[in-house]
Amino acid sequence: MKKRVLVLNGPNLNLLGRRDPTHYGSMTMETILEGLRSRFPQIDIEYFQSNCEGALIDRIHSEGFSEDMLGIVLNAGAYTHTSLAIADAIEAVTVPVVEVHLSNVFAREEIRRRSMIAPVCAGSISGFGAGSYALGIQALIDRNHED
Ligand code: DQA
Repeated sequence: MKKRVLVLNGPNLNLLGRRDPTHYGSMTMETILEGLRSRFPQIDIEYFQSNCEGALIDRIHSEGFSEDMLGIVLNAGAYTHTSLAIADAIEAVTVPVVEVHLSNVFAREEIRRRSMIAPVCAGSISGFGAGSYALGIQALIDRNHED
């Protein structure tokens, strides 16, 4: 059976392509997903975006115990820096979560250098634009082969 990966995007990432291209590039999420699906044909790549913290937590709960789920690639947007609730959800589930960011959050404002979710994620990828999502998925595939 094909394994699944959930790409989970938080607030304002529905505006990709229109939002601050110097930090986030000019690709839409639809184009990024097309690229990911052609690069990883062996994986079913699912996508969910919400601007609401609770909706993101609900999705982590509903997918976070699935046997066929290789992992969740999470760009929590600004909730990365603030949300103990999302960190608790990640810690509660069994599926590994990879934190990703399009921009290099460590090269930006001080507040963005702090991640509430990093300590409970399998790892973090930041600064490779749309490539951060691909690196996140590749990390989950490699991690699965090492098990
Ligand atoms: C982001 C970085 C966050 O600091 C910011 O709030 C975002 C996007 C990124 O992908 O670079 O919304 O997660």
